[in-house]
This record gives sequence, C-alpha cells and structure tokens, in this order.
Amino acid sequence: MVEEKKKRDGFGSKLGIIAAAAGSAIGLGNIYRFPCELGENGGAAFLLIYLLVVIFLGIPVMLSELVIGRRSQSNSVGAFKQLAPKTIWPIVGYIGVLCGFLIFAFYSTVSGWTLEYIVKSVTNSFQGKDLVTIEQEFTAFHDMGWRNVMWQGVFIFLTGFVVFKGVQNGIERYAKILMPLLLVILVVLGIRSMTLPGAKEGLAFLFHPDFSKITGKVLISALGQGFFSLSLGMGVLITYGSYVKKSDNLTSTAFSVVLADTAIAILAGLVIFPAAFSFGVKPEAGMGLVFNTLPMLFNQITGGYWFCLIFFVLLAIAALTSTISLLEVLVAYISEELHLKRQWATVAACAGTMLLGAFASLSLMSNTSFAIGGIPVFDLMDFVSSNILLPVGGVLIVIFVGWYLGKQKFFEEVTNNGAIKASLKKIIFFIIKYLAPVAIAIVFISGLIK
Ligand code: PFF
Repeated sequence: MVEEKKKRDGFGSKLGIIAAAAGSAIGLGNIYRFPCELGENGGAAFLLIYLLVVIFLGIPVMLSELVIGRRSQSNSVGAFKQLAPKTIWPIVGYIGVLCGFLIFAFYSTVSGWTLEYIVKSVTNSFQGKDLVTIEQEFTAFHDMGWRNVMWQGVFIFLTGFVVFKGVQNGIERYAKILMPLLLVILVVLGIRSMTLPGAKEGLAFLFHPDFSKITGKVLISALGQGFFSLSLGMGVLITYGSYVKKSDNLTSTAFSVVLADTAIAILAGLVIFPAAFSFGVKPEAGMGLVFNTLPMLFNQITGGYWFCLIFFVLLAIAALTSTISLLEVLVAYISEELHLKRQWATVAACAGTMLLGAFASLSLMSNTSFAIGGIPVFDLMDFVSSNILLPVGGVLIVIFVGWYLGKQKFFEEVTNNGAIKASLKKIIFFIIKYLAPVAIAIVFISGLIK
C-alpha cells in the first residue's frame, strides 16, 4: 500500500504524466510497426485514415481513459469495479489485462532485436554490405530462434528490473531528454533519405493517396495501428491516469501525447520509404522493411557508425518505456486485485510473458512449428491484440464514459472541478458519446467482414 502511494505520487508533475504517457506511446509501434502497416496497406491512403483515427478517435479515447483512471485511482480492472460496482463493466479491464499480456509477449520479441542490433552496430557489422547480404543476415538471425528468445528474455528482465525497483520515474526523466534526441536523429536521417536517388517515389507512396486502395483491411489496420501506437484500449492510460494529480490538465496531456506520437510516426515514414524505394526494398516487405532499410541508410551517411549505434540505443530505450507501461498494467492488476506483493506480481507477470513470448519468437523461424494455418503465432498475437482486442476495449471505454459515467462527471474531471476551462470539453464529449462508438464499430465490422 505504501508502495502504491509512493508510485502514485511519482507521476505528480504535469511533465511527469506527459513523459510517462508519451514514453508508453512512442516506441516500436511508431518506428517499426507503423511503416510496416503503411507499406502493406497501400501507403498514403492508409496514412490518411490513420490521421483521421488518431485525431477523431485517439484523443477522445485517451481522454476517456485518463478520466477513468484519475477518478477511480485504481488499476484497469479495479477502476471499473470502483466506478461501476456490481456491474459487468470490469470485464473491460480484464480484456485489457489479457491484451497487455499478449502485446508484451510479441512486442518483447522485436524489443530483443534492438539489443541484437546494438551489438551489430558496435561491431560495425553492416559496413560495406549490400542489400542482399543484409537481408540474408536478417533472415538468418530469425532462424536462430533461441538467440531471439535470449534477447527477448534480456529485454523482459530489464523491464521487470525497472518495474520491480519502482524506478520508472528515473527512466521517464531520461526519456524526456532522449526522445527529443530520437526526433533529431530521425530528422537528420529523413533529410538523407529524401536526398537519395529515386527517393521521390517513396514520397509519392507516402503522400499521394490512391483511394481505390482503401479496403476493409486497410480501415481495420489503421484503426488497430492508431490504438496500438497511442497505447489505447487496454488500460495503460487508466493505470497511468490513476497516478495523476488532481490539478493536472488531462485534455492538454492527451493532445500533447497524440501530437508527439504522430510526429514521430510520420518522421519514421519519411526516413523509411524514400530510402526503401531508393534501395529497392519492397514497401510490403514487412519486418525487413525497417530492419534492412536502416542499415543500408546508415551506410550512406557520414558518421554512419555512430548514427547507427545511437539510433538503436534510442530505439531500445523507446521500446523500454513502452514495455514498462505494458508490464505496469499487469503488475498493478495482479498486486491490487489478486493481492500479491508488487515484487512478486512483477516476477509472475515477467515469467508468464517470457513463456508466451518464446512462442512468438520461435514462430518466426523459417521451419517453425508454431504457426496456425501457415500464420506465425507472432502475427496472430499481433492481429488479435491490436486489431481486435484494442478496438473492442476502446469502444467499450468510450461507451462507459459517454453513457455510464456521464457528462457531468466527465466535465468535473476534465475541468478539475471547475478550476480550468477545458474549452473543447463539449465537442469531445459529443465525440465520446456518439461519434467514436459508431465509427469504431463501423470500421471494425467492415474490417472483420473482409
Ligand atoms: N504504443 C507502443 C508503441 O507504439 O510502440 C506500444 C504499446 C504500448 C501498445 C502499450 C499498447 C500498450 F498498451
């Protein structure tokens, strides 16, 4: 209990909550998953839908989560028990915990790769290599299934260590300095990428929408990516919201986080696509799109060795602040609802994730037996959690705030009981109550039918 109190005080300052929420949002989702999804879903048309999703659904859902968290002062399951006693609403929290577990399991696979790539950067292992060799090495790395599992384990351990020690705040403080540095590096890389021969095609792919490419799959992928990238729909921001001071401005927090997250994603697109088109990496190359294009780009840059090293270190830190938030949801739930000590809750959550996560890593080997109907378990976990569970969680969260909690309580939270104006509150509440549930449902159903 004392531990809990200490943690809640930790996110006391406004910058603290923005840093923590942005830390959760900005991660592999922006730099790795966003280009992959965009590449596989028709480029600019996807980007357009994605932007509509983050503006019209991202901000209201994020605000709803923060409101639920701060009002209830509880974890994602406890929050619903608190605000809607004797109802079935806590089910939303349970879906979130399950989803967090699934996401942490496959996310830690890719997080582990960042460590492998740090080692590769230190040993200057990309220098002078052509695309074919870099691609072969990437595939060969996947085929070393246990090496993937090892790095994944190291990453889960690191995350567990931070949460176990309760030093998230320390990490967030570093992240506050380091994430702007990531932004600077992306800008430099973006400029180099856009000045490569043939880069124009990449820019056209990113910015000239071909509306005929918009299918149900594109819609649901953009929706899923929006929720994934902003860490919405599974209670991260309910949990973090519960650590926020009563005097913080929730609306401006939501706006800042959405802006920062989207800026980083678009920048990542500006780095990857011009370079990918220039080097001949296919936009629908999936995982290789980022992990093969970037080393090629570093090879073209003066001081490429250092850019490469610093970039992968920053990427690992960005991933760490996201895995911390995933683990925090699990630990807050296990410790508060199942009454296990925080430390034991951390150990249990990490052990469970490691077990499930190993399947995700091993499923990417060429001769894997961990695939269902030819689809690797990794992709299944990703699809089910990001494209199904997060939107379902998101729709239930807005329905809860719009129809159960109601306007008055929502206004009380966003205005800090009348202390601040929150001039957009009416329009945002309208979106929460009517537009968001309908829009998410339509996109979701149209995607599933396809
Ligand atoms: N938003 C993170 C990213 O973009 O990398 C990933 C993530 C973290 C998703 C936490 C969901 C979540 F609850």
